[in-house]
Amino acid sequence: MRILFLTHSFNSLTQRLFSELRARGHVVSIEFDISDSVAEEAVALFRPDLIVAPYLRRAIPDSIWSRNVCLIVHPGIPGDRGPSALDWAIQNGEREWGVTVLQANAEMDAGDIWASESFPMRRAKKSSIYRNEVTEAASRAVLAAVERFASGSFIPIPLATAAARGQLRPLMRQTDRRIDWSRDDTATVIAKLNAADGFPGVADQLFGVPCNLFDVHAEARRPDGMPGEIVARRDGALLRLTIDGALWIGHVRRVDHDGAVKLPPTIAFAAQAAGLTELAAPLMRDDGAQWSELTYREDGAVGYLAFEFYNGAMSTNQCRRLREAFAFARSRPTRVIVLEGGRDFWSNGIHLNTIEAADSPADESWANINAIDDFARDVIETDTQLTVAALCGNAGAGGAFLALAADQVWARAGVILNPHYKNMGNLYGSEYWTYQLPRRVGADHARRIMTNRLPLPAPQALREELIDASIDVAPAAFAEQVSTRAQALAQAPDFASRLDAKRARRAHDEAEKPLARYRQEELKHMRRNFYGFDPSYHVARYHFVAKSPNSWTPRHLALHRELGWRVAETA
Ligand code: COA
Repeated sequence: MRILFLTHSFNSLTQRLFSELRARGHVVSIEFDISDSVAEEAVALFRPDLIVAPYLRRAIPDSIWSRNVCLIVHPGIPGDRGPSALDWAIQNGEREWGVTVLQANAEMDAGDIWASESFPMRRAKKSSIYRNEVTEAASRAVLAAVERFASGSFIPIPLATAAARGQLRPLMRQTDRRIDWSRDDTATVIAKLNAADGFPGVADQLFGVPCNLFDVHAEARRPDGMPGEIVARRDGALLRLTIDGALWIGHVRRVDHDGAVKLPPTIAFAAQAAGLTELAAPLMRDDGAQWSELTYREDGAVGYLAFEFYNGAMSTNQCRRLREAFAFARSRPTRVIVLEGGRDFWSNGIHLNTIEAADSPADESWANINAIDDFARDVIETDTQLTVAALCGNAGAGGAFLALAADQVWARAGVILNPHYKNMGNLYGSEYWTYQLPRRVGADHARRIMTNRLPLPAPQALREELIDASIDVAPAAFAEQVSTRAQALAQAPDFASRLDAKRARRAHDEAEKPLARYRQEELKHMRRNFYGFDPSYHVARYHFVAKSPNSWTPRHLALHRELGWRVAETA
């Protein structure tokens, strides 16, 4: 079928559905929701069999839904309606939630139901529930709905007759989210912050300055102090006391001046945070009660290094800390090191927000790319263990290439990779991609990958030999699968010969062309991106971090806007 996506942006859920439907042979074209007339034009050009709205913030105009079947993906259980579905579900402590695919009609979220899926709720940030449970459920529900539509015989169920326990709820406002530090207990504060992550955050104050809070983590030990007081810092986060405990606030967006971006509070409030004690947590800790971005644990001959960086963005400091943690992992008497990344994202490359906020974004970009390259080099040069990049969450841009530094790359089948830099103002990219990519897939294919701007689902990445395994399990079961495989790798009878082969190959590659030269060549291009005459990267980064609304759909997504589309399609 020809399926048109009407969507606010090409976000992770949209990318996943796009990939799933294309893998099933459908022709999928995308139009961003810019205005009714642009959407109408897209429908007229593409003449879709079906319209799907994976992520829409406005209603579809009646000129479109009255003539085409339009399926809306709603992140709520049947009967749930309104723009803050997940926010209410999290804040109200729902134990089970779901995704409903319903047909657009005159009333928002009240159309006939084509499919629905449910899942147990996890105590986590809204963004994390969206990227995991909602994405998995939406993918199943949309595939079912599309099949039902294609069958021509399915009659969708009117909301009134569906056994729907959901209800219409209003937009959640900041007054609903407000934290009362003198009354709310830790669980309540965490639920409020989780319900507002990564957008819009909870409006509050730090050091008397109005700001929105994001990215909360519980802390088991409560230092002395008054509720609401800020008492320590760790990994860029601040420790704040509640009436019965304490929690870490990992990110804030100041609202006292225009253009502020979401940042670790020790950067957003550098002067005030400087006076706080840095409460370091040991890298290897077994009580699970202390939060920190970096965690290392061991199980027999396998070491696991997790780097839970918010949004997968890796700043200069984070890369340096990760490098130190990796050096520790390398020093251990293990055979395999698993680089776990974070649950939601493995890595999305250099940290565009901290770069944007720096006095010199060009200098900070340079420092950041060098810091991530240093870590990549350490991984590539590890000759005492085999390394595995285990991707439970997505990886994009430099983060996708960073994964290739490991000997093995295993991804959850639902993972979407975006192995390209071009979308960020034509960045050339580094992370030793010019060494890693051709080595894995050959020079021709490497060129194709670098010019492609589309998401690459893990199963396809495996077919293209970019990665070594695509593991078809739910996010919650991924770690166990990885552990089984990593243990097998560590205990394999040919472990020693594998390690020898790795050392020999590295020595051979180094003799042929030193790693330093790959880096030098890549960074020559990057220097031009950062300091050169063409400001494309700085402009693209600004729009990315400022979340500037789309004013057009990129050509590589809007097939129907390709010159000759109609000719090709009718030929
Ligand atoms: N630096 C800072 N923030 C980043 C980031 C990065 N490199 N990559 C993603 N983010 C943030 C987004 O701003 C967004 O923030 P929010 O919580 O305030 O909404 C959040 O991560 C999720 O990103 P989003 O784009 O909504 O996620 P997605 O899963 O839909 O898309 C990508 C993933 C990787 C395609 C997309 O985020 C992207 O293009 N990132 C930039 C990658 C890049 O160019 N890195 C620099 C070159 S190495």
